[in-house]
Amino acid sequence: MERIVSGKPKEEDVSLETTLRPKRLTEFLGQEKVKDNLKIAIAAAQGRGEPLDHILLYGPPGLGKTTLANIIAAEMRVNIRTTSGPAVERTGDIAAIITSLKEDDVLFIDEIHRLNRTVEEKLYPTMEDFVLDIILGKGPGARNLRLNLPRFTLIGATTRFAMLSPPLRDRFGVVYRLDFYDEEAIAAIIKRSARILGIEAQEGGIREIARRSRGTPRVANRLLRRVRDYAQVMAEGVITEKVALEALSRLEVDHLGLDELDHKVLLTIIQKFDGGPVGLDTIAASISEEADTIMDVYEPYLLQLGFLERTPRGRVATRHAYKHLGLPDEKKPPQLGLFSP
Ligand SMILES: Nc1ncnc2c1ncn2[C@@H]1O[C@H](COP(=O)(O)OP(=O)(O)OP(=O)(O)O)[C@@H](O)[C@H]1O
Ligand SMILES: [Mg+2]
Repeated sequence: MERIVSGKPKEEDVSLETTLRPKRLTEFLGQEKVKDNLKIAIAAAQGRGEPLDHILLYGPPGLGKTTLANIIAAEMRVNIRTTSGPAVERTGDIAAIITSLKEDDVLFIDEIHRLNRTVEEKLYPTMEDFVLDIILGKGPGARNLRLNLPRFTLIGATTRFAMLSPPLRDRFGVVYRLDFYDEEAIAAIIKRSARILGIEAQEGGIREIARRSRGTPRVANRLLRRVRDYAQVMAEGVITEKVALEALSRLEVDHLGLDELDHKVLLTIIQKFDGGPVGLDTIAASISEEADTIMDVYEPYLLQLGFLERTPRGRVATRHAYKHLGLPDEKKPPQLGLFSP
């Protein structure tokens, strides 16, 4: 199903993301804590004339992991080489990439949780000691050759911290977690995008879009473009508060940025499973979605809103969810004592 508020990239986003993607740290709005830490790390590494520690970036789709990886390389004034977990199939692939790097370069591996185990194991010594072992020849005559590599910085990005194997996780010097942006930061991002795209948008209109963007820059930029289309046809191109409201209600995004599918997830838990707890796979089957998609795309924001809770026995819809959907909270109080751990 077509989802306007999905954090995952859509085809329509691709070309514009290049235009809108911040190139330097000063253009990267929000995520102040991550930025402050990064500034210090970059200044320190530059002062010592060394490459940065390996960095792991994690967080839900569309929050700026790829953007940040590119910015880090730009700020360090080094080249960046980009690949992704699923693209590196054999150890030979990773060896070819790594041996092509130059001193201080950044190697960016997107979706790093999807690297296969043998490739991952090949990566360990390169991250730790900057050496690569290759086996020459076959059978009894085979020889082991150890290559010294230039010192590089590996930046890994993942939406799934838990899926990363502990030995890989441990080899990153720093882990930066990207959280959903607050409304202020999203409004600033929308303002910046509107300026770049030459869109006239009033404060009230920007706020309205910001509120419904799920704290996600990619969604904010997408909603801005859709509202612009509406404004162009219906309101001489100016995004006022009224125009934004009309456009967004047409897109069926509610005032918290939830769409029909979020509602469906919550309603399924509440109406079919008495509010939960219910397992992720059961929810997925009832709404014909993949469990992975629910976990990566819907759930993080519903958890953030406090509409959903994860318990050892499954997902539970909270009172806030009932209230948001306008449903009476008729759930029986939990029978304390019976299931206490
Ligand atoms: N802090 C920011 N300031 C301004 N724009 C941003 C910021 N972060 C992200 N964006 C915008 O959002 C878009 C999506 O960001 P990006 O591609 O970096 O997300 P991602 O975390 O890599 O997502 P995915 O998990 O899907 O790979 C970018 O093209 C950029 O235009
Ligand atoms: Mg990305």
